Amino acid sequence: MATWSAPGKVFLFGEHAVVYGKPGVAMAIKPRVFVTVRKSRNPTRPKSPYIDECFRMMGVRGSVYVHSQLQSSSGLGSSAAVTVATLSAINDEFNLGHAREYIAETAFAIEKKVQKGRASPTDTYVCANGGMVLITGNSKRRLPPENLQVVVGNTLVSHSTAKMVEQVGNLRRKHPEVANPILDAIGALTLAALHNIGNPKELGQYMDMNHALLEALGVGHPASSKLVLAARASGAYGAKITGAGGGGCIIALCPRRAKSRVAGAIEACEGRAIITTIDTDGARKE
Ligand code: MEV
Repeated sequence: MATWSAPGKVFLFGEHAVVYGKPGVAMAIKPRVFVTVRKSRNPTRPKSPYIDECFRMMGVRGSVYVHSQLQSSSGLGSSAAVTVATLSAINDEFNLGHAREYIAETAFAIEKKVQKGRASPTDTYVCANGGMVLITGNSKRRLPPENLQVVVGNTLVSHSTAKMVEQVGNLRRKHPEVANPILDAIGALTLAALHNIGNPKELGQYMDMNHALLEALGVGHPASSKLVLAARASGAYGAKITGAGGGGCIIALCPRRAKSRVAGAIEACEGRAIITTIDTDGARKE
């Protein structure tokens, strides 16, 4: 029997703009998905196309038990975390000897297949490797970890990443003269934020700017606006949509002492708050 876990992820800066080759920064966060795999001739496992595909790709049969601290379809990378943890546990239980890079690449291929062509290479990379990651075009690089204090607010409004990505694509086709400069500005602020990564107050301002630009791209939602405003009013340095938008989650960067106040304000606005910080571990044997 082998149990592995993988963390969730948030975008600190640059979602949507990364789809067009601009830089973005993502970070693994502490809530995790735990997956236990056991060799078995009569496998039992949860109904999941991701898990089925993991066994098909690895060419083995086994039973699976999943325990998840991450809400699915919230934009925190839960499907990538399930896939990475399942592949890692299969790799261990069956002594297949695959490296972490292979696990991340296979997880991406599985996400792409299950999601019929659209998947985020960022999600699977961050879940497999952990830490803070700079995405530029097709390349991904781990950055030195920063102990940022964050509160994630889930609007509980479910969204489709594929739909939101398509919507931004449509806007870009219809109004390239408006959409392209917005995407450029997101790229520019991501780079500027990187130069201020050790200064949470400054970073908060960049988050606020990034949020306004995401709303200008049309991926806002009344529920995420409400949580962002509540987080700022209760002491966050800054707050923004994280991930695809259209509902989903927001992230607030906070002084340590303000975290529970910010979480309380999010809950008071009918959101679900997660007080968290960076997870430097990636996929991990439990
Ligand atoms: C979704 O979490 C982030 C997007 O930028 C899509 C992607 O990076 O694949 C909207």
